[in-house]
Amino acid sequence: MNRLAGKKVVITGAASGIGRAAAGLMAAEGAQVLIADLDADAAGEAAEQIGLAGGRAVGIAVDVMDESSVAAMIDRAVAEFGGVDVLCNHVGGSNPRTDLDLLRMDLAEWDRAMALNARSTVVASRLALPHMIDAGGGSIVNTVSVAGLTGDVLQCAYGASKAAVIRLTQYVATQYGRHNVRCNAVAPGAIMTPALRDNLPSDVIADIQRHNALDLIGEPDDIGWAMVYLASDESRYMSGQTLVVDGGLTAQSPIAASRRVLLDD
Ligand SMILES: NC(=O)c1ccc[n+]([C@@H]2O[C@H](COP(=O)([O-])OP(=O)(O)OC[C@H]3O[C@@H](n4cnc5c(N)ncnc54)[C@H](O)[C@@H]3O)[C@@H](O)[C@H]2O)c1
Repeated sequence: MNRLAGKKVVITGAASGIGRAAAGLMAAEGAQVLIADLDADAAGEAAEQIGLAGGRAVGIAVDVMDESSVAAMIDRAVAEFGGVDVLCNHVGGSNPRTDLDLLRMDLAEWDRAMALNARSTVVASRLALPHMIDAGGGSIVNTVSVAGLTGDVLQCAYGASKAAVIRLTQYVATQYGRHNVRCNAVAPGAIMTPALRDNLPSDVIADIQRHNALDLIGEPDDIGWAMVYLASDESRYMSGQTLVVDGGLTAQSPIAASRRVLLDD
């Protein structure tokens, strides 16, 4: 309780999935949370649920692809809460049907993924930073993915755009650390959200679990707690880092799952 007491938080894409869980945990820890999402109704409903649980949240519409909409989001946070202490650039994704391997990938999807994942993070951070600097500091938390850490056979644009955000995180940390602004990323592995359920067949999800060190598929709260930590002063000495929360997927050798059978009776 109260790990985020008094913090003014803006979180994008928080009407569903991981973002919604993170917003709920942050509010339960005492933050005032602006839930900003393309789906205004779902954002309002998420905020209402937080209110019923005794937290403080406001749900608004934003399209992170549109700079003026992002500017209105930051203005709204300042009007509602009096500033922005924490910005979670959480929206992200790509269309797995058009974001394929390099030769078959739709170039329009490359541009869209770069805008949705990387450019939107630049735009929102540029708008929030002056408020953080004026207030004497802040924390930017970027949601990336293990797809930004390694290569894969599909989703070239998604992986490359998340990798761009991982490096951007280090640049922002470097450039604004002297203003007491921290910038970190959280890199989820597979997390059971509507997006994962809709995009991946169940046998692929089971195969991901087989390749995790832990015999689990993560839940939204697993990332939400990492975001609470990065938003809070508990992480005050941490900046420019990517916190990987993936059930041990990227910690182990890629052939560990196959070798496990050697130990089976
Ligand atoms: N779910 C996973 O397994 C997983 C794994 C690694 C990384 N991630 C990352 O976590 C983040 C959230 O993923 P999720 O699975 O919770 O997604 P989700 O689909 O459950 O939620 C995404 C939310 O973003 C909103 N949104 C989409 N486009 C938007 C736009 N242009 N402007 C504003 N809001 C918009 C949607 O309305 C939705 O509410 C993404 O950055 C994703 O890349 C997820």
